Amino acid sequence: MSERKPALGVFGAGWVGLVTGACFADLGHDVVVRDVVSERIEKLNAGELPFHEPGLSEVIERNRERLTFTLDASELTAGADIFFACVDTPATPSGDADLSSVWSVIEDLGEPGEATLVMKSTVPVGTGERIRVALDQRKLAGLGYVSNPEFLAEGRAVEDFMHPDRIVIGAFDEAHGDRVAALYEGFEAPILRTSVPSAEMIKLAANAFLATRISFINEIANVCEALGADVDEVAHGMGLDRRVGASYLRPGLGYGGSCFPKDVSFLKLLAGNSGYHFQLVSAVIEVNELQKRRVVNKLKEHLGSLRGKTIALLGLAFKPNTDDMREAPSIVLASRLLAEGAEVRGWDPLVRSHPSLDGVAIQKSMLEAVRGADAAVIVTEWPELEALPSPEVRDAMRTRLVVDGRNLLDPEVVRAAGFEYEGIGRP
Ligand code: UGA
Repeated sequence: MSERKPALGVFGAGWVGLVTGACFADLGHDVVVRDVVSERIEKLNAGELPFHEPGLSEVIERNRERLTFTLDASELTAGADIFFACVDTPATPSGDADLSSVWSVIEDLGEPGEATLVMKSTVPVGTGERIRVALDQRKLAGLGYVSNPEFLAEGRAVEDFMHPDRIVIGAFDEAHGDRVAALYEGFEAPILRTSVPSAEMIKLAANAFLATRISFINEIANVCEALGADVDEVAHGMGLDRRVGASYLRPGLGYGGSCFPKDVSFLKLLAGNSGYHFQLVSAVIEVNELQKRRVVNKLKEHLGSLRGKTIALLGLAFKPNTDDMREAPSIVLASRLLAEGAEVRGWDPLVRSHPSLDGVAIQKSMLEAVRGADAAVIVTEWPELEALPSPEVRDAMRTRLVVDGRNLLDPEVVRAAGFEYEGIGRP
């Protein structure tokens, strides 16, 4: 007879919580996922996902029997052996992490006896130690605390969960660390055992490093533009050096999303609060801010004043395969263009409206978005946009200018189709 797998309780039905809960259910665990937003739980119980994530509905559907979605924390605390905190940690007005949802989880746990609390939410370094003290003060010594940061990228989160590069487990107590490590038995990835603060730092440092690579290649792109080199050739040549590697060297309009902007800034402030001025990440943030705005200058170089010009923003989500608009470069770009007096249209395969895109006329099709436009700007590299250099689009546009903010298209193909073309860091 096979041993019973530990029952799991997941706080938070956002990206991390749902992917974690659904994937562990797929691995044979009974999982209760609790969220405080009733609409979210109703949707999940009706078989709908609250956001777009490829492959996730299928995993949820085939594990319905092992998955419960609830608003009631006691349903979760009643039978679980291991709890996962997968709640959001947004920025406060000062830019630091708002940990109120994390502290609510601690409250909602009540007195669970012998169990393990696993922190998946991204938290400032030192949070685990503060939580440990709070648990001990409440005489919850039987409740172990483990930091097990997530490295899931939206759009491929299920794949990232099932095939991670590494699993990081930071524990105060070896037995609780072993318990969490056992959940990942059979995974091919190395399991790295660390202290709790190191695990917390690995998460922030990894995201900040990836963001640094992006800002670095974006600056190389900007210098390439001035000097006549081609950044795609340069990135390829750099990436072939095994010490450098090829990933996160795609130039563009800068990084967005719910993680990089927030985590890089958390790291900067965390260092600052402890008296260290982290100059490199400050520069990474500044480069990223300016990168989103460079497109406006490119448009002006071609079109002169943008007042009264119609600009189509193609791809609005912060990256392809998601409907997530958090910190999407399209928001800054739209707002800058509207301030210049342009008429701004938008199109995205998934995003149909968004409060931050007030003033942008979002169209149902790419062709409608470019009709009568003076420029088409590729903001997000949706594969659908590869069809852009077509006779239909050319005939629909008033001025045949393509600004490719993600270097998605082959400049020669676009020019041969009768457009003017501008990329990022391309001659
Ligand atoms: C990121 C990390 O990749 C995950 O490992 C991490 O778990 C997650 O944050 C998190 O902290 O929760 P995500 O924000 O979903 O995941 O998206 P990425 O695919 O990493 O892209 C982030 C941004 O960087 C996007 O705006 C993307 O367009 C941009 N990017 C990425 C570039 O501009 N160039 C690149 O070469 C790569």
